[in-house]
Amino acid sequence: MPRQQRTTDYHCHILPGIDDGPKEHDESIEMARLLAEAGYREVYCTPHLIKGMYEVSTEEVLHERDKLQRELEKQGIGITLHSGREYYLDEFLLDYISKPLLLEGTTCMMIEIPNNTSVDLVKETIFAVKRRGYTPLIAHPERCFLLETVEQKLPGAGRWKRWLSGSSGKNNDTEPGNELLRYFKQLGCQFQGNLGSINGQYGGRVKASARYYEKTGVYTHAGTDAHSPDAVKNILWIR
Ligand SMILES: [Fe+2]
Repeated sequence: MPRQQRTTDYHCHILPGIDDGPKEHDESIEMARLLAEAGYREVYCTPHLIKGMYEVSTEEVLHERDKLQRELEKQGIGITLHSGREYYLDEFLLDYISKPLLLEGTTCMMIEIPNNTSVDLVKETIFAVKRRGYTPLIAHPERCFLLETVEQKLPGAGRWKRWLSGSSGKNNDTEPGNELLRYFKQLGCQFQGNLGSINGQYGGRVKASARYYEKTGVYTHAGTDAHSPDAVKNILWIR
C-alpha cells in the first residue's frame, strides 16, 4: 500500500454514535490518541451510509466531526479530522449522488461493494458516479469477491491456464474479477486497501487478494477501517 500515505488514515469509523463505530465520545478520542501515537496526523471520518440502516445526514456527520476535532485540540491530540463517507453500493446509492459527501478536499467518493450484488449493477452505478464528475474510490477491494482473479484464488493458476490455452496471456484472463478490475481502472477509479487485510485479520482469502493488489500496484490509498480503539490496536499491532 502507498507508503507515503502512512500518516493519513483514509478510512476510519471514528465518529461516535453514527454507525457501527464507537458509541461514546471517549472511545473516539482513544482511537485518535492511538492513531496519533502510531504516527498518523490526518484521519478521514468515513461513517457508513446504508439506506435503511445508517442514514444520518451530511450535516450531522460534519457536526460530529467538528465536535470531535475541538475535543482533540483541547486534549492536545495532533490529529486533523477530515470529512468523508463510505457509501454502500446497492440500488439506492444513486439517490445520493446529487450531493455526496466526498473525501474532503478531493473528488473521491468512497464506495464499498458488497459480495451479494451483480456485476451489472456495480458497473452501472460506478459509471454513473464517474459521469457525475466524481472519482469512485473503491473501499477495500480485497474484500470484494467479484473482483477476484484466478491468480488471487490460486497463485500461479493464471500462468497454467494461459499455458494450457496456448496464449501469451496478455488480456486473456476471462475471469470476471479481472474484467471488472480492468473496467474500474479504465474509468479512472482509485482503490483503498485495509491495513488489517494485509495482516490477515479478515482471513487467508482476503489476505491473498490484498497481497496481490499490493504486488500489482492497484492500491492508491490505505486505511485502517477501524471501528473501535481495540480495532486500531489490532490493525496497527499496538501491544
Ligand atoms: Fe468501513
